[in-house]
Amino acid sequence: MADEKLWGGRFAQGTDELVEEYTESVSFDMALYEADIAGSMAHARMLAAQGVITGDEAEEMVRGLDQVRQEIESGEYSFSTKLEDVHMNVESRLTEIIGDTGKKLHTGRSRNDQVALDFRLYIASRVEEWIRGIKGVVAVLVECASRHVDTILPGCTHLQPAQPVSLAHHLLAYCWMLRRDAERMEDSLKRIKVSPLGAAALAGTTYPLDPKRVADEVGFPEVFRNSMDAVSDRDFVVEPVFCASLAMTHLSRLCEELILWANPGFGYVRLPDAYATGSSIMPQKKNPDVCEVMRGKTGRVYGALVGLLTTLKGLPLAYNRDLQEDKEPFLDADWTLSMSLSLLAGMMSEMEFRPERMRRAVKEGFLNATELADYLVGKGMPFREAHHVTGRAVAQAEDEGLGLEDLSLDVLRGFSELIGEDVFEVLDYDAAVARRVTPGSTGPESVRAQMEELAEWIT
Ligand code: ARG
Repeated sequence: MADEKLWGGRFAQGTDELVEEYTESVSFDMALYEADIAGSMAHARMLAAQGVITGDEAEEMVRGLDQVRQEIESGEYSFSTKLEDVHMNVESRLTEIIGDTGKKLHTGRSRNDQVALDFRLYIASRVEEWIRGIKGVVAVLVECASRHVDTILPGCTHLQPAQPVSLAHHLLAYCWMLRRDAERMEDSLKRIKVSPLGAAALAGTTYPLDPKRVADEVGFPEVFRNSMDAVSDRDFVVEPVFCASLAMTHLSRLCEELILWANPGFGYVRLPDAYATGSSIMPQKKNPDVCEVMRGKTGRVYGALVGLLTTLKGLPLAYNRDLQEDKEPFLDADWTLSMSLSLLAGMMSEMEFRPERMRRAVKEGFLNATELADYLVGKGMPFREAHHVTGRAVAQAEDEGLGLEDLSLDVLRGFSELIGEDVFEVLDYDAAVARRVTPGSTGPESVRAQMEELAEWIT
């Protein structure tokens, strides 16, 4: 019983079944099988290059590992919780296939540096996928923006109508948030792609290993500098999960706006049928469930981040089994972010915008009030006074159910003699957007420059 375990030599008694169930990780870390096999191949080749094993032995291991991979992928191999984790499953299957040579694979290595390498490899490939996913969303948003440079809607502060902006500008704001997310992820890869193999259990090893060679083979530009750090920190998990949390924050904000916009009170969008659901009782309903679930799942990704940080807090050096708790939060955050990015890209590419509803809201919101105040300033009135005069004009127009632009010149001149016929050009909403020519503003020139820059970034 006891010697079924790869580490069973000193044990007289088998593991309690509940302990096995409680402590196993293979049910989730099997996700790392490919990384584990790649890491083991690199380790085997390095052992041979350093003369620790023969070249023939290394080749046999690599061939055997390749077979293990095929068996896993075809479903022929089924992971056993008795073997605890993915590492011991792979190693024990390798030894069944190639015999005693398989038992040499773990020379100079511990599961502590092995798992750190596997997880780094896995995370690096997922983070690269996230970046591609973000670029996919940005591509769709830029495409929507390009169709709506001249569509205007109320830009809000305090969720109250403030000044007209173009729909393109509004959508592009999310592109910049997402671009920063992708850049943060890209930057985190520098710290993720550091090979810990060679740290062994915690202190390094007496075999003449060459960690750099392993790093080169797995495509990592850096190698660990301190063996205790290498096996015990999990900042390489926390950092991408933070990046994922922040990206989800941004997706959640966009979802919230879409939920508002789909409400008939706004009516700025019609959700694509494929991304909405109905109600079992209210026949008229079309619910923005995808947006809601995405907003809700954002909390779940934060949960992963806080869970990870809490697991790490107070851990003494070096490896502690607590660290096994790093996998599920990452896997969950990864699934959530990846799915959210694909769904958002799909949903936005089919989103129907309703410019006529946006324009109506612009008119109802007195979004040209700032323009009138600035006009009066242009005519020599101090800004505070212009603000006040415009406020009185807004109050009167509101009473009459009109927009400022609907008041006659005579009525307007009742508020200030400075107002002339040219005021109507200023009160035009499209002109208000077009006049914003400074870099980064909502004017069409800035919007086109933004789209160009973003389009270049995603290629
Ligand atoms: N399943 C373990 C983990 O994920 C692998 C490392 C176990 N090392 C050990 N010495 N028990 O952390």
